[in-house]
Amino acid sequence: MRRNGDHYSRLAREKNYPARSVFKLQEIQNRFSVLKAGQKVLDLGSAPGSWSKYCLQQLGPKGSLVGVDLEPVRALPPSGGRYRFLQGDIFSAEIAAALQRLGPFDLILSDAAPRTSGSSLVDAEGSLQIARRVLELAADTLKPGGHLVVKLFQGGEEGQLLQRMKVLFHRARAFKPKASRGESREIYFLGFIFDAKVEKKA
Ligand SMILES: C[S@@+](CC[C@H](N)C(=O)[O-])C[C@H]1O[C@@H](n2cnc3c(N)ncnc32)[C@H](O)[C@@H]1O
Repeated sequence: MRRNGDHYSRLAREKNYPARSVFKLQEIQNRFSVLKAGQKVLDLGSAPGSWSKYCLQQLGPKGSLVGVDLEPVRALPPSGGRYRFLQGDIFSAEIAAALQRLGPFDLILSDAAPRTSGSSLVDAEGSLQIARRVLELAADTLKPGGHLVVKLFQGGEEGQLLQRMKVLFHRARAFKPKASRGESREIYFLGFIFDAKVEKKA
């Protein structure tokens, strides 16, 4: 299984991406076409910057991207003002307020994950808290009809989160990209066509 990981790490280096995770987003894009030219996109947990680099390429000259992470991102190619990075915690009120100002977004991506602890239960709980926060931020800053992609580590109560997404979105499903390490418990939940009216009633 590591051989699979090494293959993607090598490929990322060859293509000048700072992390192999770009291939997971590429698979999501190839299968579901979530990114479209000209959109305004939010990338949560964006460091070291592979997803952001890929997004900027897909979004073209009229698209724009906001990235957020606790850590700084590595240098991205010049984007002519289409890219804004906020260094901070997605749980903070400051980041929530900044995203309110910068949104609304057509698409929200979250590859944010806690530092792995060695305990799959602890990691699953940490990632569920992050994903719940992402859903809160999405409810406030996603455009009606927008889409959401959020990473989770399986092993806790993530099924409830998917159920909630099925209420908030026209359609929601889980997806495990091939580029995700076989031994990893990570999975992505995808919500298509955000229904802002449902959120207001809930
Ligand atoms: C797997 S990495 C993301 C990789 C990124 N998608 C890329 O392609 O380069 C997960 C990121 O989530 C970030 N993260 C975790 N918790 C966070 C939080 N509460 N607020 C902001 N970022 C967070 C970590 O700092 C880490 O950089």
